[in-house]
Amino acid sequence: MKQLLQRLTDTFSPSGYEDAIRDLIRKEVRELADEIRVDTLGNLIVRKGRASKGGTRIMIAAHMDEIGLMATHVDEKGFVRFTGIGGVYPRNLPGGRVRFVNGTLGVIGLEPTDHASDVPALDKMFIDVGVSNKKDCSVRTGDVAAFVRPFLDLGDRVVAKSMDDRIGCLVAIEALRGLKSTPHEVYFVFTTQEEVGTRGAQTSAYGIDPDLGFSIDVTGWGDTPGQKDFDVALGKGPAIKIRDGGMLSDPRIVDWMIKTAEKNKIPYQREVLLGGTTDARAMQLVRSGIPVGCVSVPCRYVHTPSEMVDLTDVKNAVKLVTALLSSQIDLGE
Ligand code: CO
Ligand code: ZN
Repeated sequence: MKQLLQRLTDTFSPSGYEDAIRDLIRKEVRELADEIRVDTLGNLIVRKGRASKGGTRIMIAAHMDEIGLMATHVDEKGFVRFTGIGGVYPRNLPGGRVRFVNGTLGVIGLEPTDHASDVPALDKMFIDVGVSNKKDCSVRTGDVAAFVRPFLDLGDRVVAKSMDDRIGCLVAIEALRGLKSTPHEVYFVFTTQEEVGTRGAQTSAYGIDPDLGFSIDVTGWGDTPGQKDFDVALGKGPAIKIRDGGMLSDPRIVDWMIKTAEKNKIPYQREVLLGGTTDARAMQLVRSGIPVGCVSVPCRYVHTPSEMVDLTDVKNAVKLVTALLSSQIDLGE
């Protein structure tokens, strides 16, 4: 599992440029699926099972894209000015390294500030690709880059860029692998453009028109120095989302998830996240509304190039998702 996770996180696929990660995931799920297709926005839709009597159409979303940068222009000396793609925070950037989709590598520098502790805005930063003038620079306006940071194996805990949300993709792939049979029609959707506003989930959910659904994504953490008011820790199991900044989970879905976890003796945490949201928000609001929830993997340092997860949480998330999809579902009224 670690090896596959490393291959997933080593891939460079910022929002809108998910080709490389989609190819990798498609190869991984090819033998496991009953049907695979790619829709107009690039979502990879993987179906398993056919809804029989009492079966339900279920959509599960894990986003393939990662945050990144986009070149806004290149100056006369060959320095690349840029803006963020998705939730890019200036304080996480200086000294960082990036790789453009065309392979060009660079390092992020900043203009001098009045005080050493000042964090300048993105427009006071630049990418230095090691050239002295514009004509030698292989980056053009509109080119897109992702962060470079090698995978770090700390035992149960592993660190990489783009754990958000390659870890969700891994959980979805492993759940698909573990799902021997299902009474349901299950659509695993590896979505595009989540980080810029859950766009792929919106169109794929409209097309699939599921009876219910959930996303698999990272959430924050409350267990490092100074973190406050967030009751989720690494190693205590996947978190079952009750609310985040963009969504109230359907209480029936929360109930179903908690009962399934307890019945299967899978540890879980109750998640109340104040800011941020996931693909489930988009799914909830398509057509005339869909009951949704979210299985979260606790992740430290989200949206930095060193995101940390605990593999025991990942394994328990796989168990939970597999259990959710294996038996009959009764959401009640
Ligand atoms: Co994110
Ligand atoms: Zn995410």
